[in-house]
Amino acid sequence: MSASAGNNLKQLASLCRSLISNVLHAEVFAGVGLSSRSSASVLNEETLKPIVELLSTVTKEDVGLATARVASNNRSVGYIRIYSDEILSVGIFVIPCSISIPLHDHPDMCVLSKVLYGSVQVESYDWDQCSVSPNTATKPLVNHGNIATKVFDGELKEGQLNTLYQNSGGNLHKFTANSKEGCAILDIIAPQYDENKRPCTYYKAMPLGTATSNKFCLESVEESEDFCITNWAYQGLDWGFDC
Ligand SMILES: [Fe+2]
Repeated sequence: MSASAGNNLKQLASLCRSLISNVLHAEVFAGVGLSSRSSASVLNEETLKPIVELLSTVTKEDVGLATARVASNNRSVGYIRIYSDEILSVGIFVIPCSISIPLHDHPDMCVLSKVLYGSVQVESYDWDQCSVSPNTATKPLVNHGNIATKVFDGELKEGQLNTLYQNSGGNLHKFTANSKEGCAILDIIAPQYDENKRPCTYYKAMPLGTATSNKFCLESVEESEDFCITNWAYQGLDWGFDC
């Protein structure tokens, strides 16, 4: 663990806090019709760059995962909450080997992820649409689903980062732990899921056209009964969120 690790986490928490206020302002303004600015407009590559840079320095040791943790039944996904409010969520998913977080979306949201240990197979999609907001977008319909493009199907290894945005970067994704020790993924999510405004929906993907086509029909499905999350306590360095 580096000597400056604790400071980096506190600096990262501070940047996340300013992100909260920016997103909050955007939501309030958009909500009362004062501006067309949405949370998406403040969550772009440029504004998130300082957070991405600091996130890249966070290690598994910093967050108390020097040794891989495994769920007792080896089937459920562990979730370690570091911080959560109405706008921001910071936490770690610990996924046992061969277990998946099913395909799901992040409506009007941005997610920064870092693989802390292990490797993860990522399958991700973006909706085919013209409009900016997924709430107002007219997504091309086929049967009972919507058309999406698969934008990534590959492995992310320890230390690698991924950022997804409202309409790009693979806003819908499925994670499957590849390595025998499983994997742990640190997620910074903004804004937070919201049952009314930003609900989480699960999907199944059905290929369209030829086997080599990257176009899929995504149909919403109930959350799988096989998918189970267990909350675990955070045992790493202090982020200073509560200061
Ligand atoms: Fe996700």
